[in-house]
Amino acid sequence: MTSDNNASRRQFVNGMLAGALASCVTRGAFGAESRAIKAIAADKGILFGSSVGAGRPGTLAGSFNDPRYLEILKTECSILVPENELKSYVIAAERDRYNFEPGDRIAEFAKTNGLKLRGHNLLWNRAEYTPKWLIEWFGAQNAQEGERWLREYIQKVCTHYGDQIHSWDVVNETVEPKTGEIRETPFTRVLGFDALRIAYEAARESAPHAQLVYNDYMSWGAEDEKHRTGVLRLLQQFKARKVPVDALGIQSHLGSGAGQHREWKAFVDEVVAMGYRLLITEFDISDKDVSGDLKARDTRVAAVARDYLDMMFSYRQLDQVLCWGMVDKYSWLQRFSPRADKAPLRPDPYDDLYQPKLLREAIAAALMSARRR
Ligand code: XIL
Repeated sequence: MTSDNNASRRQFVNGMLAGALASCVTRGAFGAESRAIKAIAADKGILFGSSVGAGRPGTLAGSFNDPRYLEILKTECSILVPENELKSYVIAAERDRYNFEPGDRIAEFAKTNGLKLRGHNLLWNRAEYTPKWLIEWFGAQNAQEGERWLREYIQKVCTHYGDQIHSWDVVNETVEPKTGEIRETPFTRVLGFDALRIAYEAARESAPHAQLVYNDYMSWGAEDEKHRTGVLRLLQQFKARKVPVDALGIQSHLGSGAGQHREWKAFVDEVVAMGYRLLITEFDISDKDVSGDLKARDTRVAAVARDYLDMMFSYRQLDQVLCWGMVDKYSWLQRFSPRADKAPLRPDPYDDLYQPKLLREAIAAALMSARRR
C-alpha cells in the first residue's frame, strides 16, 4: 500500500471512530468538531472539566446521581470539581464530626475513571456560606484560638484527600465587589488579613503537591471594575507578604452582554505580570436576559463564550477550564437567578435531553484555535 493510501485509510478509520464516539454519547452530532472536549484540550496542554454535585437525588445539585450525566463527564472531562461537597457547610456542618462522605463518593468516581480532581474550597470568606455554629463560635474566639481552628480544619481536609487534589481553591470570594475591600466576616474580624495568610500556609503544608488558587467572580462587565481593582490589590498583597498563592481562579459566570475587552485584558495582563497562573473555574453563561426562541438564545450564549474563551486562551498561563455543570437542568442558576418568564435557563454545554448545544461547539472551536501551551 502506498503512503497516500495509508494516510487516507487512517483518515477513514479516524473518522469512523470519531463518528462512533459522537453517536454513542449523544445520538446527535457534535457539530464541526467530533472529538471529546478533553481530547481537543489535551492537544493544547489544557485540562477540561466540570463540577458535579452529590446532592440528594432529585435536587438541583444532584447531578452525581444521574448516570447519563456521569457518562458525559467520562467522555468529555479530564478533571472534576465537587460542586458543594468540600465546602465547610458540608464537611463541618456538625460541630463535632467531619463529614467526608459525599466528597469521598465523588473522589472515588474520579479515581476509578482516571479523572483529576480540584478542591473547592477551604475558606469561603462569607458568613452566609459557613455553618451557623462555626460563625458563632469563631466570632467569640481570640486570634490564637481562631488560628488553631483554621489550621486544624485545613490540615484535616487536605490530608484526607491527599495527593488526589490537583489544585485547591484555598480562599474563595474574599473581595467585596461593591468596595473592593476584603470582606468582613468573623474570620477576618478575629484574624484580619492573617485569616487568608494562615489558610494558604496551612494548605501548602498539608497539600504540598497541590496548586493553590485564589478564586473569585470578578468579571469583564463594566459593573465589575471595583471588584477587579480589589482583587488586583489582594494579589499584590499576597506577593508582598509572600503568601503562597499560585494562581487566580476566574469563576467566569458570564451574562449575555458584551464584555469590556480592553479593561478585562488590562486586568488579566496585570495578574499574569505578577507571576500568577490562571484557571477558568466555574464557566457558564446565563441566557436570563436573552429573548427569542431556543436557537436564538443558544446562539447568543455560544457567541459570548467564543468571544470570551478566545481572549482567555490567548494567555498561555491558562491551563484548566471547568464548567459549573455540563447539563442545563442541574445548573445552580436555575434557582439562583431564574428568567423573568420562568423558562428554564440554558447556560451549560448540554441540554436537558443530554444533547450537545452550540455552547459545546463554541468551547470545542475555541480550544481548537488555541495555541499549545
Ligand atoms: C453554588 C452551588 O452551585 C450551589 O449548588 C450552592 O447552593 C451554592 O453554591 N461561586 C462559587 C460556587 O464559588 O461555590 C457557587 O456554587 C457558585 C458561585
